[in-house]
Amino acid sequence: MSGSHLDVLISELQIRVRTAELAKQIDDEFGGEPVLLIAVLKGSIHFLSDLGRLMKSDTQLDFLQVSSYHGGKSSTGVVQIRKDLDINIEGLNVLIVEDIVDTGVTLSHLRELLSTRKPKSLKVVALLSKSGSRTVHPPVEYIGFEIPNEFVVGYGLDYAERYRNLPYIAILREE
Ligand code: IMP
Repeated sequence: MSGSHLDVLISELQIRVRTAELAKQIDDEFGGEPVLLIAVLKGSIHFLSDLGRLMKSDTQLDFLQVSSYHGGKSSTGVVQIRKDLDINIEGLNVLIVEDIVDTGVTLSHLRELLSTRKPKSLKVVALLSKSGSRTVHPPVEYIGFEIPNEFVVGYGLDYAERYRNLPYIAILREE
């Protein structure tokens, strides 16, 4: 995008170190029980991939896609399921893997939806959290980094489908 620039907020190394800490904490807390990792597409793919490979628990993967932003910078508040899970989660330990929790609307909707399917347990790991922007407060059991209320891109996060491949998280500033 012309007329904008990127300020690195969280480096590749910081992401790697924190993801390893989260993987260990999650493994310890599941105590050897199997876990289904559910990535929320598309923003969580790099985080899921790195976290999943660092975890030692017996894991399965599934994917869910919701839309709430429609390619812009502010939430519409409307959450639609665009791709549902393949796996029946009844009786399973489920860990939702989120890129970022902003207003909390998406996650709150997801937690509600998935809990009706009777998993054995339901927890959430979010790489990033903008706690100052919450309008609803769904529980987030594991958080990688608390960040300020700025629009960020990279490591899976996009602006109009761009920047997902950056290995770091950056604030997208318009000039
Ligand atoms: P929430 O429903 O407001 O919590 O928003 C959750 C979703 O909005 C995330 O999964 C992202 O897809 C998107 N989102 C929120 N903040 C940002 C951001 O700073 N950059 C890119 N996407 C974001």
